[in-house]
Amino acid sequence: MHSRSHGLNAVTEQAGLLFGADYNPEQWPEESWAEDIRLMQQAGINLVTLGVFSWARLQPTEGTWDFGWLDRILALLEEGNIKVCLATPTASPPPWLGHRYPSTLPTDAAGTTLWYGSRNQFSPSSAVYRNAARQVTAALAERYGKHPAVVMWHVGNELGQISYDDETAGAFRTWLLRRYGSLENLNSAWGTTFWSQGYSTWEEILPPRTAPYLHNPTQVLDFKRFTSESLLKLFTAERDIIRRHSPDVPVTTNLMGFFRGADYFSFAGETDLVGNNWYMDPAQPQTWELGALTHDLCRGLAGGQPWLLMESAASAVNWRPHNSAKEPGALRVDSLSALARGSDGICFFQFRQSAFGAERFHSAVVPLAGEDTRVFREVADLGSRLQDLRLLAGTPAPSRIAILFDWNSWWAAESPDCPTDRLGVLDQLQAYYRPLLRRGLSVEVVHPSAALDRFDMVLVPSLFLLKEDHAGALTGWVHRGGTAVVGPFTGVADSNGHLRQGRFPSVLADLLGVSGEEWRPLAGAVGLDGAERGPGGASPGFPAGLEASVWSEDLRLHGAGASAVATFAAGALAGQPAVVRNSHGRGTAWYAGCDLPGPALDSIIGTALAAARITSPVAGTLPDDVELATRAGYHFLLNHSPEPRTVALTEQSVDVLTGEAHGPHLTLEPYGALVLKDSSAPLENGN
Ligand code: GLA
Repeated sequence: MHSRSHGLNAVTEQAGLLFGADYNPEQWPEESWAEDIRLMQQAGINLVTLGVFSWARLQPTEGTWDFGWLDRILALLEEGNIKVCLATPTASPPPWLGHRYPSTLPTDAAGTTLWYGSRNQFSPSSAVYRNAARQVTAALAERYGKHPAVVMWHVGNELGQISYDDETAGAFRTWLLRRYGSLENLNSAWGTTFWSQGYSTWEEILPPRTAPYLHNPTQVLDFKRFTSESLLKLFTAERDIIRRHSPDVPVTTNLMGFFRGADYFSFAGETDLVGNNWYMDPAQPQTWELGALTHDLCRGLAGGQPWLLMESAASAVNWRPHNSAKEPGALRVDSLSALARGSDGICFFQFRQSAFGAERFHSAVVPLAGEDTRVFREVADLGSRLQDLRLLAGTPAPSRIAILFDWNSWWAAESPDCPTDRLGVLDQLQAYYRPLLRRGLSVEVVHPSAALDRFDMVLVPSLFLLKEDHAGALTGWVHRGGTAVVGPFTGVADSNGHLRQGRFPSVLADLLGVSGEEWRPLAGAVGLDGAERGPGGASPGFPAGLEASVWSEDLRLHGAGASAVATFAAGALAGQPAVVRNSHGRGTAWYAGCDLPGPALDSIIGTALAAARITSPVAGTLPDDVELATRAGYHFLLNHSPEPRTVALTEQSVDVLTGEAHGPHLTLEPYGALVLKDSSAPLENGN
């Protein structure tokens, strides 16, 4: 499941940390290109992504091609020593394709055609589209596969299109036939005895198109799996063509972090490097926490090796309802967060702000107002910082802590027939991650099939759907001495989304020392009592005065090693376990049978960290808007707020950029960033 991260190393060995942007020269007169290159050099840019949306320019009609402009800009970039990530333009087919071949156009679940005039108007299953995409890819790869400026290939853009058209229905049936082998197996996996849904021929089977009431959840789950695989097949088809003509150049695509539409663990196994897009929301400064988690997902996708931030915004985006600009300094802290968490560079969408088209109001490295602007200066300043930090290129950023996550489970847990829509999977992930953030500890977000032996602690915030062998692997790992913290509503369903018989979570009951009989979403808050009494009757292990507000489970303990850490204080479950700790073999597991407020998770995860002997570089915890992430012995201390913040570390440190020595107590300027090195972890490049 590890990505071929050597693909990225091959590039950074030549170029150092990458500093780049999407560059769309076809939107500008050729006379201005030389000036663009001068500005790239001035900003320290060493990589541009070219051609993402150039299909109509490259192939103006079905039978005509125009590569002259691309030849010329590639030559100029090479001369200017700017490397190129060359894109296949297949995310936005030209209008002639949809006009001439309407079967290439996607339809939504209600059967409405999604037309050209925007982008992404392709059905992933359309044979005509896939053929046209192969043609344009082959033309580019043949012509530029060995071009000295081209150091990376970029397939499509944010692969994510869904379609429910007839051709897709046919491809879905073929996929189902391969998965189930017979209609009988399909009927059983989909549980079609429910609501008279039994299929008598394959032709009856459809994607989950708009229907009168709730869909069959397994049909929906399988359609998501099928769509994800169809998108990945678009990637691998283009990748394989490129590899034939350009065998030494890594091929990737730009992922979208926690994007619902595709299982990125399967993508990561096929790309030569993990590339991701992340856009902070300046109006909600705490989104840096989701950013950190997203970067840690990339770190997990890359198996602890470097990955690449392929797109971010220099200031505002244009696609939220209200698009705030970044505060002065925010660009630097946002970018360094990715670098500290394993990215081998920082890239922007886009180089020059468009004057026309649907992204006119999106920020860019070079705003319409030109180079004499705050944004351009901040970008250029970041470019020179990256020079100072170039030793980081190629250094891995492994973590001792894993979060288990699975797209299949996410899809299944968000089915509208579940007991509540308020126990959000991503919310749970973030809640369990936050206590680690506050201690300056990072994680790798990994698939439940990942080898766990290199981790000391595993968090399982939400795995509603959990395969038996994955539950067994987790149980065995804890038995051998691991420490796990498991969140509510986990281990409930099998891979068809069928609920398991017996007391839940049956496949984890031995590991957790607890089992339950009813899920009880809460109508209002219910108090939680610490159950362990220390001297004088106080509860040392669980803070007082906390409440669950969304979810509860009717649980009881079993097994000698299990004890309640907290109980419900009132209601139908008064006195019953809410949080359980279980000794299992040489390890320990915690289970929360409810949603937990921050201080409760902080206390449980703090205890679990101590059990796993994981220490933090922070004395106490960090302020809510300060981030600390460590890579190759460098501590990046980042203030995401417009106010100064003080922080206490456990060690003295030296500022890598200025050489200044700091005691353990530090003050960060508004949006301040310090890169520190402590004496215990000397930097060794490639270590
Ligand atoms: C995405 C796309 C880009 C552009 C940006 C705007 O990341 O890949 O083409 O639309 O969003 O933020």
